[in-house]
Amino acid sequence: MSHPNGNGFGKVGVLFGGRSAEREISIFSGTGVLQALQAQGIDAHAFDPAQRSLAELAGEKFVRVFIALHGRYGEDGTMQGALEQLGIPYTGPGVLASAIAMDKAMTKRLWLQHGLATPKFEMLHAGSDWRSVAHTLGLPLIVKPAHEGSTLGLTKVTDAAQLPAAYALAAKFDKAVMAEEFISGMELTCPLLGTGDHARALPVVRIIAPDSNYDYQNKYFSDQTQYLCPSGIPPALEQQVQQLALASYRSLGCRGWARADVMVRATDQQPYLLEINTSPGMTSHSLVPMSAAVAGMPYEQLCVAILRSAALDLQVSADWKPH
Ligand SMILES: Nc1ncnc2c1ncn2[C@@H]1O[C@H](COP(=O)(O)OP(=O)(O)O)[C@@H](O)[C@H]1O
Ligand SMILES: [Mg+2]
Repeated sequence: MSHPNGNGFGKVGVLFGGRSAEREISIFSGTGVLQALQAQGIDAHAFDPAQRSLAELAGEKFVRVFIALHGRYGEDGTMQGALEQLGIPYTGPGVLASAIAMDKAMTKRLWLQHGLATPKFEMLHAGSDWRSVAHTLGLPLIVKPAHEGSTLGLTKVTDAAQLPAAYALAAKFDKAVMAEEFISGMELTCPLLGTGDHARALPVVRIIAPDSNYDYQNKYFSDQTQYLCPSGIPPALEQQVQQLALASYRSLGCRGWARADVMVRATDQQPYLLEINTSPGMTSHSLVPMSAAVAGMPYEQLCVAILRSAALDLQVSADWKPH
């Protein structure tokens, strides 16, 4: 099945906007995807689940949808479940993988089970023994809400006495709060593309904040943050990170596409998985498109490739065949 002008896809919905805290970035992602698909001659239409009901989604009779939603109600398995119910193939990982990936602690338990490197962690609660947490994980450590999309509750703790306040802050964003071993080193992210035996890692992107120390403010609010792709890291390390990212993708049963965040410890160059994003940013300046371009796949082609991988859970487990 090839689509020279993309016309073989039928009516396509691009889901963006939505109700999560990441609504604004989703609008940028979705607008870019919509334009790219239309430019390829695909009959693509915008659909904002925050403004229209699931009944209207069913009424649109989309043949497949591109999910460009981020965070809750878009990336967490709930929209994927609704699309399964409606029988509309969708891009990205299925219900279970999306739901697990949204929960960082659950994801890490799975990775540990598969022998994949991820920083040590502990769940926190109001009655946690703070000194023992600091002793087990070492200092500094990171306190964060377990659910993705809640970046605001994250603290780097350098002294055990700061733990109760860091916990209280994270608990404002999420019932599940975790403390994690701090990995001092290089920050990388690695996109994954494809399904089953065809899944592959794209080139790694290196993220450099203006301050060589970890700094949350810099990373998210400074336009001086640098994104390097090609990453410039030694080829053997690049490959090791790609293999780890691909293994992390497979361990959750991901399909379609995703992006794994990795820290490489400075002392021994050991890569550690932080989390996997199952509906990453997809503006033309986002990290997955940046990496795909280095792999020889321009933005429009990437959008079409992701759209082509749209599926339902059952098709993948029972009937899935590569196109
Ligand atoms: N254990 C850790 N060690 C060092 N830096 C961390 C650690 N956990 C998070 N960070 C930093 O915080 C950022 C956000 O954390 P992450 O777990 O990726 O959550 P999210 O991207 O959902 O906010 C990371 O990109 C990294 O810069
Ligand atoms: Mg992240």
